[in-house]
Amino acid sequence: MQISVIGTGYVGLVTGACLAEVGNDVLCMDLDAHKINRLKQGDIPIYEPGLDDIVKRNIAAGRLRFTTDVVESASHGAIQFIAVGTPPDEDGSADMQYVIAAARAIGQSMQEYKVIVDKSTVPVGTAEKVRAAIQEELSKRGSKLKFNVASNPEFLKEGAAVDDFMRPDRIVVGVDDERTANLMRALYAPFQRNHERLIVMDIKSAELTKYAANAMLATRISFMNELAMLAEKMGADIEQVRHGIGSDPRIGYHFLYAGCGYGGSCFPKDVQALQRTANECGRELKILGAVEAANESQKKVLIAKIAARFGNDLTGRHFALWGLAFKPNTDDMRDAPSRVLIKDLWERGATVTAYDPAAMHEARRIFGNDPRLMVADSSMAALEDADALVIVTEWKAFRSPDFAAMKSKLKAPIIFDGRNLYEPRDLRAEGIEYFPIGRSA
Ligand SMILES: NC(=O)c1ccc[n+]([C@@H]2O[C@H](COP(=O)([O-])OP(=O)(O)OC[C@H]3O[C@@H](n4cnc5c(N)ncnc54)[C@H](O)[C@@H]3O)[C@@H](O)[C@H]2O)c1
Repeated sequence: MQISVIGTGYVGLVTGACLAEVGNDVLCMDLDAHKINRLKQGDIPIYEPGLDDIVKRNIAAGRLRFTTDVVESASHGAIQFIAVGTPPDEDGSADMQYVIAAARAIGQSMQEYKVIVDKSTVPVGTAEKVRAAIQEELSKRGSKLKFNVASNPEFLKEGAAVDDFMRPDRIVVGVDDERTANLMRALYAPFQRNHERLIVMDIKSAELTKYAANAMLATRISFMNELAMLAEKMGADIEQVRHGIGSDPRIGYHFLYAGCGYGGSCFPKDVQALQRTANECGRELKILGAVEAANESQKKVLIAKIAARFGNDLTGRHFALWGLAFKPNTDDMRDAPSRVLIKDLWERGATVTAYDPAAMHEARRIFGNDPRLMVADSSMAALEDADALVIVTEWKAFRSPDFAAMKSKLKAPIIFDGRNLYEPRDLRAEGIEYFPIGRSA
């Protein structure tokens, strides 16, 4: 099939590359000329395991191309995916200007029947707005061309995006006509050879499903974080509690880890946007308000522990930071807890040396060359002369370090662990002062 993907970010690039991998003829469009030029040379602007190979292979095979030309992309794909960003507006609602701009661009240039598919995470009712924007542009041209709009929210996880797209556990498709449903079934057939994973529903339900999924996951995290703080106060161990409740199949083990707060490009904005949508309908989602508030305070737990150990004034103190990305296997630092912690440490007069296997260039882009943030080229090098180590992201490479070597590099053997990577009693045996989340150290 001929496919255009509008917006070539995390979602658009993975979608385009994976659809090309199964034989489709894909054109990825983005307004960011710098990004598109890099991609044309096979240079991948994001860190995502496995993506590099797929992009290069499909460029070489002629199945994956990149452009900044709106007209070219509007005429190429029989299916037009909209995968542009939907960042939070000032009031927390999803900013729909990029989605609507993409829809208008399609309406201005399409020359034949098209199916427009919203892949971006968009509030309920967006498909209608996309339809109206395209229709308005067609009417301006005096065109009677037909088109259909579908919703196909994306559930990929950064860090495992290629795998999630190639082997999805579900594909949600919102449609209001059988022709589009069949087209989507055909498009996704190569990804579900083992058994049917396509869930076809009405458009509004599909739009809401995406927000519901992210809101539920964020809720589990905030719930565990609040319990962790309670466990700490009472001398209980949140890890043992996690085992105890996760073994109930109605609860399950996934997404039950206490830590220093959730971040990333999706949970914070989607939790906010869903509340805004509810408010607009005269409903209040009380649970999500609490989820958001709990997460904001959780991002402050590490600095509170550091201040309790070293005092409020951290002038002259220096900290090693392991992990900058909002989660492992990505270089994405959007809304990452590390950003809050770095600013908190700076405000109290401390300096930081950070190490992250993938996000160092992103940190430089965000913080510039601020001398209060240094980067090291290995986890061990980051520890040199630091007053303590603070762990913010649970990269696998941090799980089993050489504790003796760490002690020889740190000024004092102190670890604040925002991801509960180690067993408190093991660290005690190593002579390390250990501050995990929700565990009696
Ligand atoms: N990142 C994730 O893990 C993830 C997962 C599921 C869903 N989503 C959703 O998918 C959408 C995209 O997210 P992302 O992380 O890929 O964003 P992103 O910021 O990485 O990429 C968005 C891209 O769209 C481009 N763009 C903006 N307006 C455009 C236009 N009119 N025409 C062409 N290109 C345009 C931008 O230049 C940018 O490259 C969002 O709605 C997000 O909530 C993201």
